[in-house]
Amino acid sequence: MKLKNKFFFNLNQFRLFPEMNQKNPTFKKKIIMSLLLNRNKFGDVANTGKTLSKEEAIALLNDWVLNDKLRLHMLQVAHLMKCWAAEKEGLGEEDQWRWEMAGLLHDADWDQWPGEHCKKIIEELEKRNVDPEIIHAIASHGPNHFGVEPEACMDKMLYAFDELSGLIHAYSLMRPNGYEGMELKGVKKRLKEKSFAANVSREEITDACSRAGIELETLIPFIIEHQASVSLNELQ
Ligand SMILES: [Fe+2]
Repeated sequence: MKLKNKFFFNLNQFRLFPEMNQKNPTFKKKIIMSLLLNRNKFGDVANTGKTLSKEEAIALLNDWVLNDKLRLHMLQVAHLMKCWAAEKEGLGEEDQWRWEMAGLLHDADWDQWPGEHCKKIIEELEKRNVDPEIIHAIASHGPNHFGVEPEACMDKMLYAFDELSGLIHAYSLMRPNGYEGMELKGVKKRLKEKSFAANVSREEITDACSRAGIELETLIPFIIEHQASVSLNELQ
């Protein structure tokens, strides 16, 4: 959630509110900054199937991401990706880890290099000879920002989980019992309240569900059920 607030704040600063700071001499420089990746090919097909170990991925996350809220967000999305791969796609352990790794590192460069998100992590994973499908999933997790279309199922689910996971976590923080007793109807009500987690893009949630072909009635209960158990202890 914090990610989203921070994410959109910075995007706004760079691109969405060009009317701001118009008298600032750095204004022109700022508004031409873009997160568009301007390419659609990532990694090397020769590296298909190659991943970091979980220890290597967590070491990278711990090294690059200092913000605990962002670390938790990435762990939550990673866990959702792993569980979806296992339970809904029937994938084996190796593929589950590919999905989990995409979730675990999808925002790895946001904390320190917001102006280079997600170019920086893509280049790092290419340097480390990571599976191009994992890199593509990361590159396409915000098609409206990075200009890369989600194509594979893994891509679409990362995009679908990203925003909604953040909104549901924000909702858990305002509830006395957190995730306990949280229901679909409560989340849907929050979704309709534009003032709640205002920086979470409802349009992107709708777009992501549509691309994935999944109803909110399926996705929301899945997130509630699986996200509650995730904690920062997993990084230790
Ligand atoms: Fe994210």
